[in-house]
Amino acid sequence: MKEHAISESMSAILEIEQIVQHIHQKYQNFDEGDVATYIPELAKANPGHFGICLATVDGRVVRAGDWEHEFTIQSICKPFAFQMALEEFGREDTLARVGVEPSGDAFNSIELDPKTIRPFNPMINAGAIAISSLIKKKPAESGVRAFVQKMQRAAGRPLRIDPEVLASEEVTGNRNRAIAYLMLNCGIIDGEVDETLHQYFSQCSLLVNCQDLAMMAATLANMGTNPFTGEMVFDFRYIKDVLTVMFTCGLYDHAGEWAYRVGLPAKSGVGGGILGVVNRQLGIAVYSPRLDAKGNSVRGILACKDLASELGLHAFEFTNVGSNFMQSML
Ligand code: DON
Repeated sequence: MKEHAISESMSAILEIEQIVQHIHQKYQNFDEGDVATYIPELAKANPGHFGICLATVDGRVVRAGDWEHEFTIQSICKPFAFQMALEEFGREDTLARVGVEPSGDAFNSIELDPKTIRPFNPMINAGAIAISSLIKKKPAESGVRAFVQKMQRAAGRPLRIDPEVLASEEVTGNRNRAIAYLMLNCGIIDGEVDETLHQYFSQCSLLVNCQDLAMMAATLANMGTNPFTGEMVFDFRYIKDVLTVMFTCGLYDHAGEWAYRVGLPAKSGVGGGILGVVNRQLGIAVYSPRLDAKGNSVRGILACKDLASELGLHAFEFTNVGSNFMQSML
């Protein structure tokens, strides 16, 4: 019985490996989209890079292409910062600063929800800056360190901030400054605007590779426990909050289309990463720095669509082939 289960599990992982390699090959030479240039350091990314990594909650990893290449996490820091705020301040105090409504607008819109006078959600810049204001610490570097440490535990390896990207963010971040001052004016954040923005820019400048993101996603999928180190990283009581907001708001003004076509909680970043979570099953990460007009990775979206359909991962997939794959591995 046991041997049978092991051989089924081996064939499932081999099948997933083949699917991932095939999807990588399929889009390898696809060159639509452009690397982000509004933060000058990001313009240095190699547009040809393309990596995929899947990490399962039972500790297996499938990798393809440039999975090892490091890039900055950018907005993929936002769900994790939201999780940290919930853990430290609880639901009521956190949601007093930020809503959970999709905005339908661009990530960097200078706007608040006119009904609540709060940022629409923690995945857009306004919401993420409000969260950074909450989780920053004194001195400012200790808040940054707390974030990096949490992310290291989720990735299962030491991580660092890219000082060049951080400097580039600080120099060109006037739109984020405008959002922060709007929120100061409305009483959402405190007067330590520079410290808040330093926290936010630092979070965005964390260097990760596809495997790190897949491990982080797998840690969320595994109710907060890193499946590789066994360490409890996130308080499981708040993971449903985070996954819900990722599902409805993680891809900004592409969120509805994403939920329809891919059907997974996910988050994109202008560095070119996309992280997706298959609850209780696996973490997905794709890296490709060519972005569409909405700031989402073009090949990242294509690869995730294919993965979701070929592995049956959509949350409302009635065949749920993904579940069968995973169950046969456990
Ligand atoms: O706020 C910014 O401009 C960036 N540091 C992060 C933006 C980002 O990744 C948007 N996501 N697609």
